[in-house]
Amino acid sequence: MVNLSVNIGELRFKNPVLTASGTCGYGPELEDFFDVSSLGGIVVKGTTLEPREGNQYPRMAETPSGMLNAVGLQNKGIEYFEKHIYPVIAKYNTHVIINVNGNTIDDYVALSERINKLDKIPAIELNISCPNVKRGGMIFGTNPDSARDVIRAVRAVYKKKLIIKLSPNVTNIVDFARIAEEEGADSVSLVNTLLGMAVDINRMKPSLSTVTGGLSGPAIKPVALRMVWQVSRAVKIPVIGMGGIMTASDAIEFFLAGATAVQIGTATFINPMAPVRILEGIEKYLADKHFSDISEIIGFLNRN
Ligand SMILES: Cc1cc2nc3c(=O)[nH]c(=O)nc-3n(C[C@H](O)[C@H](O)[C@H](O)COP(=O)(O)O)c2cc1C
Repeated sequence: MVNLSVNIGELRFKNPVLTASGTCGYGPELEDFFDVSSLGGIVVKGTTLEPREGNQYPRMAETPSGMLNAVGLQNKGIEYFEKHIYPVIAKYNTHVIINVNGNTIDDYVALSERINKLDKIPAIELNISCPNVKRGGMIFGTNPDSARDVIRAVRAVYKKKLIIKLSPNVTNIVDFARIAEEEGADSVSLVNTLLGMAVDINRMKPSLSTVTGGLSGPAIKPVALRMVWQVSRAVKIPVIGMGGIMTASDAIEFFLAGATAVQIGTATFINPMAPVRILEGIEKYLADKHFSDISEIIGFLNRN
């Protein structure tokens, strides 16, 4: 038996495979395919105080080895979440993490305070990296002072585990990870999508209504991996890695580079079973190599 459990502070995850926000709804969407409680955790769609319609269509475009999205944080708001979604997902035997978004610091604070009262939610992922909204989102995550202000304000009111989701659309992501650590975050997750665009040459228009959108999938994996490696060498708090993880081998690269856990996003659009297949593959790799604990490979590159 291989021990797959990992910790963020004292919060224990039964295994290191989580779903990435915005790519699998809230969990019930995956129930037809596998038991979602078998995963280490589920990070639900970006949530805001008020309902949001998101951006105009078209807001998805396929690109070589990836996709662009400009969904724009469409969700029904925290009240709907509390009344209709929370009672369903609170029954899962795994950690459900809410991805928190806002236009202003006050929004982030009010939402985090409210989620703090939900017993079955042990952590939030503070999204300061959404590239697809006009206000908030990446504007916080690409300016060091704004990033510090919003993390500090949320840390003051949110008492459980605080994960900061970082943007890759910066010159030096390490600076932002250090700010998160200094302000008392328990973990950083990276990366959110990379800003990109595509043009539809038949319509002679941008493929997305918003012109630019967030690139995800295998195309971004080398960039994400490099950033996880850099950040994990620079901070002591655990790093959650994501970006183009399609297979167990991809996930293992992230562990070796320093990730304590991984999130699976775009892969679930191709195969909804991807998170469990990846989990099985990680276990097999460890067993084949005669490791008894995932911790033996986490940050392996940094030890040599
Ligand atoms: C359709 C779509 C919606 C997304 N929505 C969110 C979101 O609401 N909040 C968030 O932090 N990240 C969101 N993301 C980013 C993913 O969580 C993840 O960071 C990114 O896609 C990279 O991982 P991947 O290549 O495995 O998909 C979204 C990504 C996609 C493709």
